[in-house]
Amino acid sequence: MATTLSQYLAREESLHELDPVLARLITSVSEACKTISHKVRQGALAGVLGLAGTENVQGEDQKKLDIISNDIFVDAVVRSGAVCGMVSEEVPEVMSVPDEFPVGPYLIAFDPLDGSSNIDINVSIGSIFSVMPAVRPKRTAVDADFLQPGRNQVAAGYCMYGPQTQLCLTFGRGVVFFTLDPSTGTFVLTQEDVRVAPAAKEFAINCSNMRHWEAPVRRYIDELLAGKTGPRGKDFNMRWVAAMVAEVHRILQRGGIFLYPRDNRDPAKPGKLRLLYEANPMSMIMENAGGASTNGHTPILDIVPEKIHQRVAVMLGAREEVDLVTSYHKA
Ligand code: AHG
Ligand code: MN
Ligand code: MN
Repeated sequence: MATTLSQYLAREESLHELDPVLARLITSVSEACKTISHKVRQGALAGVLGLAGTENVQGEDQKKLDIISNDIFVDAVVRSGAVCGMVSEEVPEVMSVPDEFPVGPYLIAFDPLDGSSNIDINVSIGSIFSVMPAVRPKRTAVDADFLQPGRNQVAAGYCMYGPQTQLCLTFGRGVVFFTLDPSTGTFVLTQEDVRVAPAAKEFAINCSNMRHWEAPVRRYIDELLAGKTGPRGKDFNMRWVAAMVAEVHRILQRGGIFLYPRDNRDPAKPGKLRLLYEANPMSMIMENAGGASTNGHTPILDIVPEKIHQRVAVMLGAREEVDLVTSYHKA
């Protein structure tokens, strides 16, 4: 018999003392992901494609599905009674739980829809989430509550809306995948003990930014591109889906490295990806799968955030590759 998500969570509660409140939060998040998955699959039929006509706090155009997914996440999380605050890529300020709902001892950060440029072209997208403990549960969470290093995360995961809808989850004891059975609406455990191969044959980076990269990243990529006759002595393949969820999912299955480095396009932006709701959860997943993650100088999970929407350079995946590109930053 296949193990469902609820059976898996019950097993974690009895074997590893998983807090039932945290299990309830993950269940609520998984329900949000199911609803988003349903909207994604309806696409134009549900009127969810196209621009919303607004910008988020980072100055990016919001798609209708960014807003719809955010609202679905907020609603599900609020009703879980497991959190006392939320931050989202799509909302400028910390969100509190309305008075009619109970508060719980956790904080959650999420990117409700990752890979927004893929929505309208029917290519893989996802949702990413990160759960931290609240220092003290209270009715009104503030920015400072969220400024914890990623090491504090008690759970992280993503849901990928691709040919299959898959949920990736870690509680800091390895990484597991569930696949949504569309016939029953149930997430079913399909892979346990997910491990990243230590060496890489593939890399993912947006090469259109090459002229803006800093020297260590340029050196690292130049050496990969040089292939068999270069210093690495082997050929590397390249992929770029433009959705971090899909890149991380591929690396977890097939190895490799993903980089969204700092570049000199805009000195105010140290990278494109966001620390709290993209880099931290993906780094917790990578480390739990035996991989690594850095901004070039510091493991992502050790960075103490200064702002809730802080951006960060990210290089993650196969440990040997992350170590090599880190060493170039020290040279
Ligand atoms: P989001 O859609 O949540 O804003 O995130 C998109 C991110 C990330 O998922 C992806 O790796 C990267 O932006 C793509 O960037 P490019 O536009 O440079 O390809
Ligand atoms: Mn994103
Ligand atoms: Mn997003």
